[in-house]
Amino acid sequence: MCGIVGYIGHRNAWEIIIKGLKRLEYRGYDSAGVALVNGNMNIYKKTGKVSDLENFADSADLAGSLGMGHTRWATHGEPSDRNAHPHLSRNQKLAIVHNGIIENYASIKEMLIQKGHTFTSDTDTEVLIKLIEQIQLEGETDLRDAVRMALTHVTGAFAIVIASQEEPDLLIAARKGSPMVIGIGEDEYFIASDASPIVEYTKQVYYPEDNVLVYLNRDQMEIRDLTNLELTPYIQELELELEAIEKGGYEHFMLKEIHEQPRSIANCMRGRIYADEARINLGGISEYAVKLAQAKRIIIVSCGTSWHAGLVGEYLIEEYARIPVEVEYASEFRYRNPIISEEDVVIAISQSGETADTMAAIELAKKAGATILGICNVVGSSIPRLSHAGMYTHAGPEIGVASTKAFTAQVTALTLLSLYIARQRGTLPASKIATLLAQLQKTPQLIKECLKNEPLVKQIAYEIKDSTNCLFLGRGINFPVALEGALKLKEISYIHAEGYPAAEMKHGPIALIDEQMPVVVIATKDSSYDKIISNIQEVKARKGKITAIVTEGDTIISEIADYIIEIPLCEEALTPILATIPLQLLSYHIAVMRGCNVDQPRNLAKSVTVE
Ligand code: F6R
Repeated sequence: MCGIVGYIGHRNAWEIIIKGLKRLEYRGYDSAGVALVNGNMNIYKKTGKVSDLENFADSADLAGSLGMGHTRWATHGEPSDRNAHPHLSRNQKLAIVHNGIIENYASIKEMLIQKGHTFTSDTDTEVLIKLIEQIQLEGETDLRDAVRMALTHVTGAFAIVIASQEEPDLLIAARKGSPMVIGIGEDEYFIASDASPIVEYTKQVYYPEDNVLVYLNRDQMEIRDLTNLELTPYIQELELELEAIEKGGYEHFMLKEIHEQPRSIANCMRGRIYADEARINLGGISEYAVKLAQAKRIIIVSCGTSWHAGLVGEYLIEEYARIPVEVEYASEFRYRNPIISEEDVVIAISQSGETADTMAAIELAKKAGATILGICNVVGSSIPRLSHAGMYTHAGPEIGVASTKAFTAQVTALTLLSLYIARQRGTLPASKIATLLAQLQKTPQLIKECLKNEPLVKQIAYEIKDSTNCLFLGRGINFPVALEGALKLKEISYIHAEGYPAAEMKHGPIALIDEQMPVVVIATKDSSYDKIISNIQEVKARKGKITAIVTEGDTIISEIADYIIEIPLCEEALTPILATIPLQLLSYHIAVMRGCNVDQPRNLAKSVTVE
């Protein structure tokens, strides 16, 4: 939530910052702002998108080779010009951009008011810059020390960048709990919430640890902790390519990411499968293989789409590895008093690796002695660092706010993990593992087949686009797919949608069904097939409009349903990956037909770093 960019070097900072903010806009897009130091402290900020800010500042003085910018997802204070970042000190010479939440801002604000400060915004961020100014005033300390000391007073999460009109060769960055990466160029440095604003300038990057301050001059970077101890940065080579974060000819990132799934799934499996030997190589968890195999229970914690992947994981792990699994919303788990033991393994699933609730759930489970495995997409993000072990899903950057390729990669990773544990525990014959792995390796090709149905899906989207409600039904391993289909539709098209286990429909939701109600049913040829036909009949009897996702060649359901979309025949365990594809396309096309902003749906942000 919120994206930040900073630059110090020899180029025009405005251009780098604006371009960077556009790449980070998926993190929040209700207002944007830039500070440029060029003798003065010039601040430009505006409600709306980064392009609104660009238009607003069109004829302004945009010179300067040091600056910082922010794209906001409002937490404290409504989206408005005055709440947009950067925020200034009382003397207007210090500026800050901030991603995160200062939890104790109210008490600090109270103290600052007593010392004569006034506030022009409702944000927690303005409190921090004024605290820094106050510390400077009281202690006659330099800016570097004042920032360091201020950070020892704040609780919560932050990634901040600070610049001063009086120090035109200094940019200060610091983080705790919110993401940040520093790009290292020739006499220039870049700061950003993720590597996308940096990738075209340099591949040398440093990911600061928690509670680290980064002092940047044009030709030097110095790292210190909060006690002022100097640290040595671990500089890495960035693996991201520029094309991975561009639309590549597609109208939206979401559509590009849907079509990328044959590749993203293949990347998730790469180097991990030895089908002939029924063997799976998961280097990131091998040290914990025994612990995992001996786990008394597995608890999966995650949010949103990642939680849906967790539900598929529950089915797979219980079926193949025979270990009891509980799937928890991280946001609920963290505030209960859950019973966790040292024999539990907690799997945290997260695309961004930064979701605040999931991180808090991990902290809780870690304190209770559980082993934590992270399944994340963003390399170097916080959750992999908090976890004892884990797997990256390697789906590549997901920029559309609605998760697509990350979900299918998570399910792929969970399939591998379930078979890996099954192999360790001997709960599945090697021949069955080999068959499943061989099938899994075919999924990229099968997804390509599913994508060929896009014209048909578009026609069905046209029929559904004006509905106000939509019901998604599935059973067994495809029940989470129904939940995911409903979430995708509601978040990008704003049509109210519900996902339900098909058999539960008769306990309530059936009351909603009439000729106005589209009902999307996952009805592939699996162990629930006969049962789900009965459920479809129940919908039909009440005149619901049925779209069924069926196994190719199905002749029975095509007689009952209004529309059918075929997916290739595959092992039941793999149907969630394939059945998800038409549902993603359906939501996408409905949203486009309704004129919605598909990549940046209202009120949402890509990584939810607040609770
Ligand atoms: C929905 C969506 C969200 C995320 C959720 C968790 O399309 O993207 O529901 O799945 O916010 O995010 P991660 O996976 O980054 O922890």
